[in-house]
Amino acid sequence: MLLSIVVPTYNEAPNIAELVRRITAAVQNRLDAEIVFVDDSTDATPDVIREVAASASLPVRLIHRDRPVGGLGGAVMEGFAAAEADACLVMDADLQHPPEEIPELWHRYSRGDVDVVIASRYAGGGTAGGLADRTRVTVSKASTAVTRAMFPIRLKDVSDPMTGFFLIDRRAIEPEQLRPRGFKILLEILARRPMRIAEVPFDFADRHAGESKASMRQGLHFLTQLTALRFGKMSLFAVIGGLGAIANVGIVWALTHWGVDYIVAAIIAAEVTIIGNFLLQERFVFQDMRESASGVWLRFAKSFTFNNAEAVIRIPIVAMMVSTGHISAVVATAITLVVAFFVRFLFHSLVVYAP
Ligand code: GDD
Ligand code: MN
Repeated sequence: MLLSIVVPTYNEAPNIAELVRRITAAVQNRLDAEIVFVDDSTDATPDVIREVAASASLPVRLIHRDRPVGGLGGAVMEGFAAAEADACLVMDADLQHPPEEIPELWHRYSRGDVDVVIASRYAGGGTAGGLADRTRVTVSKASTAVTRAMFPIRLKDVSDPMTGFFLIDRRAIEPEQLRPRGFKILLEILARRPMRIAEVPFDFADRHAGESKASMRQGLHFLTQLTALRFGKMSLFAVIGGLGAIANVGIVWALTHWGVDYIVAAIIAAEVTIIGNFLLQERFVFQDMRESASGVWLRFAKSFTFNNAEAVIRIPIVAMMVSTGHISAVVATAITLVVAFFVRFLFHSLVVYAP
């Protein structure tokens, strides 16, 4: 067996027959392939798959999960584990991923110089026409841009890290490293370790039948996934921020002890901490992103301006929260510090160290 085609399904009964028909037409007499459905449906999809499998000319297998783990991403991982071939192609069941592209993906893959071939809506010649409405187009483009900016090295050559259509050598994946949750399994794979990548453009089509399973909940999954994937950088960033806060208090204490005015001491301490944090971040947090970002003085100017603005803005915000929100100054300060931490991390990832 050369190729295993892994298809995750959730309530796709009206799409199965047409999907198998078009896959068969696309690969028949050209490629020794099988189809592995990993199904979490609550409708008649598994029955339809069994029925279609009985008369199909390709091997069609069904893994039905009564207790689904990890949603779409978990289903894909289960498909990889069960596949006959090491070359695993992942595609949706609703025909938004045209089966006629499979030989093209295989053709690129069989050159043997890459671990994954990505079918991209955003590479030259590809289109995202099947995205249901303008809102989804905007959300897709914006989240792709943010994601690429957060992983500038790993996703350097990837125009569409969120696609669900790709062909991968499963030996290049370490399943224990992955935390599949929801839709963005390819991102999870690409972000965890370096891969040799090629892309081919494709036209994202309209859904054949039924409805999209994308939801607000999937959006939240995606945000937690980004946070988890970036956790290493974020925790270092937090440690450095914490050290800075301690240094800040120490400097104020020492200066006032030597008779320096409190306001002057606080300003000196804040500026010294901001500069110190910047140097530590450069060295320990964003070292891998420096090369592709702007020059060091521009990075410093952005970071310095942001941190000063943030310190100045936070004071009236705390005052406003205390006077209008009936919360204590300590709680208000804590809330703004936590929010400021995330905003600061995002600003540094997306602006200061932008590629
Ligand atoms: N087994 C399983 N379990 N399959 C699922 C689940 C689940 O919980 N949720 C969805 N699927 C299956 C669907 O049945 C379909 O075959 C495929 O995953 C994609 O689901 P759609 O509902 O068609 O999603 P979409 O079109 O909104 O999103 C697709 O395009 C996005 C790019 O815009 C997916 O390919 C996404 O991964 C991709 O990011
Ligand atoms: Mn779809």
